[in-house]
Amino acid sequence: MDTIVVQGGTRLVGSIGVEGAKNAVLPIIAASLLTGDEVKLTNVPALEDVRTMMGLVECIGAKTRLDRGLLYIKADQLSPSEIPSSLATKIRYSIHLTGALLPRLGKVRLPLPGGCVIGNRRIDLHLRALTLLGARVRIMKGCLVAEAKKLNGADIHLRFPSIGATENIMIAACLAHGTTTIRNAAKEPEIVDLAKFINSMGGHIDGAGSDTITIYGVDKLVGSCHTVIPDRIEAGTYMVATAITNGDVIIRGARPNHLDSVIEKLRCAGVMINKTEEGLRVTPTDEFRPLKIVTEVYPGFPTDMQPIITPLLSLARGQSTIKETIFDSRFTHVAGLTAMGADIRVGRRSATITGVCGLTGAEVVATDIRGGAALVIAGLVATGQTTISNIYEIDRGYERMDAKLTSVGARIARTG
Ligand code: EPU
Repeated sequence: MDTIVVQGGTRLVGSIGVEGAKNAVLPIIAASLLTGDEVKLTNVPALEDVRTMMGLVECIGAKTRLDRGLLYIKADQLSPSEIPSSLATKIRYSIHLTGALLPRLGKVRLPLPGGCVIGNRRIDLHLRALTLLGARVRIMKGCLVAEAKKLNGADIHLRFPSIGATENIMIAACLAHGTTTIRNAAKEPEIVDLAKFINSMGGHIDGAGSDTITIYGVDKLVGSCHTVIPDRIEAGTYMVATAITNGDVIIRGARPNHLDSVIEKLRCAGVMINKTEEGLRVTPTDEFRPLKIVTEVYPGFPTDMQPIITPLLSLARGQSTIKETIFDSRFTHVAGLTAMGADIRVGRRSATITGVCGLTGAEVVATDIRGGAALVIAGLVATGQTTISNIYEIDRGYERMDAKLTSVGARIARTG
């Protein structure tokens, strides 16, 4: 099995480019199935999750081709074929195929989605919304089965502003008869990007980025070309990686306005961050101050960044706390960090981190995308060698993380 081996102790210096956002491109690939015309996406990251999504849409007849950040999708001949659960359970966004295929095929049978193991990831909001749009939805033998001759616009209030449910409704409703309103909708930049893409295909979505989104059903969508937004979590990851090594790196393409809460917290910890024409520059910091972090929906501090910032807080002077409000079990990376000498106490949905003087290399396992990245970051500053196994998890969400870190001076290699 492939591993990443990090020899800690070098400062990161130089510049790193940010790829297109994983969590923007995956729903956009699903939405591309709403037209039989060719769709061209640019700034598409070469990630395992993107390959999985391409495999999924190919199963039902779409043609895809990814070449150096350019992804072509043509879904002119879709068929209601069986989707293997080995593919559908690899990622969470397989559920978005229900919203995309119902308007095209009238019936979808899909193994229940998987994705990062970070708690009980319910799908009740998706099911209820599809039902309100007029679909007959049931779970049969581990599969989600949804049927509808035609979807009708509806007024949908989400009890929680779920990103996935908001996207699935936007995708399903844009070819529905009439108008759909999503109240308490998710407001993340990835939602805005999806609306922009659907509108570029001839859809009519208003209000994306606010908590009320209106989708006016149209008869037909057509091919289009769309550039995916930069990945704010990848940018945040390299900001922390730079800060923890006392480095000096420009993170090219990072959009500061998507990272306000992350920048604010890192600055409170003492990290020096400046906006530049190219993106964001992180410069050397003397010592880190402890933080109190509560994960929240956008524009609050993102849950995806809490594992990433944990190694830095492990080296802060004093005690930090993290309260995780989005997922009920997102601390599996703590075992690896503890093995490296971090002092972290985990509660039901919280962690208390007492700063230590240093971390030491160890053999650790990447348990999910962000947890895996957290271990790489810890390895960069640990004394000696850190070996991270199960790096498929890291490759799901980071394009060439080892190569990018090498380019700014890290001693990191992939073996296996
Ligand atoms: N929820 C429900 N019912 C639903 C849907 C969600 O109760 O029908 C709950 C979930 O159980 C969870 C919370 O709502 O506790 C948040 O879920 P949400 O639907 O907002 O998130 P998601 O669409 O499943 C996406 C990202 C995650 C990211 C979260 C939160 C993917 C593919 N996408 O997940 O990304 O953590 O939003 O920002 O997982 C990652 O990139 O590493 C990652 C995990």
